[in-house]
Amino acid sequence: MEFSSKLIEALKSAQTCLILTGAGVSAESGLQTFRGMQGLWDDFDPMKLATPEAFACEPQKVWEWYQWRREKLPLVQPNPAHKAIAQMEKHFEEFLLVTQNIDGLHQRAGSSKMVELHGNLNRNKCSRCGTMIETLPVSDQVPPRCKCGGRIRPDVVWFGEMLPEAVLRQAWRAAEKADIFFSVGTSSVVQPAASLGLVAKNNGAALVEVNLERTELSPLFNDVFLGPAGEIMPRMLEGIINARAL
Ligand code: OAD
Repeated sequence: MEFSSKLIEALKSAQTCLILTGAGVSAESGLQTFRGMQGLWDDFDPMKLATPEAFACEPQKVWEWYQWRREKLPLVQPNPAHKAIAQMEKHFEEFLLVTQNIDGLHQRAGSSKMVELHGNLNRNKCSRCGTMIETLPVSDQVPPRCKCGGRIRPDVVWFGEMLPEAVLRQAWRAAEKADIFFSVGTSSVVQPAASLGLVAKNNGAALVEVNLERTELSPLFNDVFLGPAGEIMPRMLEGIINARAL
């Protein structure tokens, strides 16, 4: 793996690091991505199902799609990309992992300095009153109902919905401050996550992309590494450790 001189310098001296991850980082754990050349959802179109309108029209179908995805989680494990990223937070004075993933694999790999932009598959809330639901009620209804009568839904961000404001603000600030910015396993087409790289670039950060294939935003990056994140991120961690030891 060849690093540009800008990247070597940044690996040596960067104080603040932001890593943005997407579905591709979990692909090697066995979870499907939304776009890209492999592992797409064949039978379901997320653009149609992950919307408030779909939940209003077909609540049972949307709920069951998420239940099916939830049932897979205990069966999959964090992969070497998640683990390397979890280690990386120890090597920078300031660090933030911003994930678009809702699968919780980063936390299971040990990441602690992180925010979830699109929510978490393991949480639920009421679609009417907004109350967080810790334990799902035993019920024949699909989806189950909140005490207020509203349908319970996963606590994830759907297309057309606002991102959690505090989380987005934190991610934006970290992008403005970043000396080095990594984009790992994301197609960089869904906003506002896709803009974080541009914000970092405008503030002088070194930009690194890791993906199986080039994305629309690749021209923005100083270094683009094409290949599986599970192979590249452990080598990136090694690069950081070596550069900082010099
Ligand atoms: P996408 O499915 O759009 O993109 C996944 C990216 O990962 C693609 O560019 C793949 O080429 C790349 N990829 C696949 N396997 C990889 C591997 N092993 N190593 C490295 N890269 C790999 O996923 P996101 O960018 O996360 O939002 O999508 C963003 C958002 O769109 C998601 O959070 C979700 C979706 O609709 C909501 O549900 C709100």
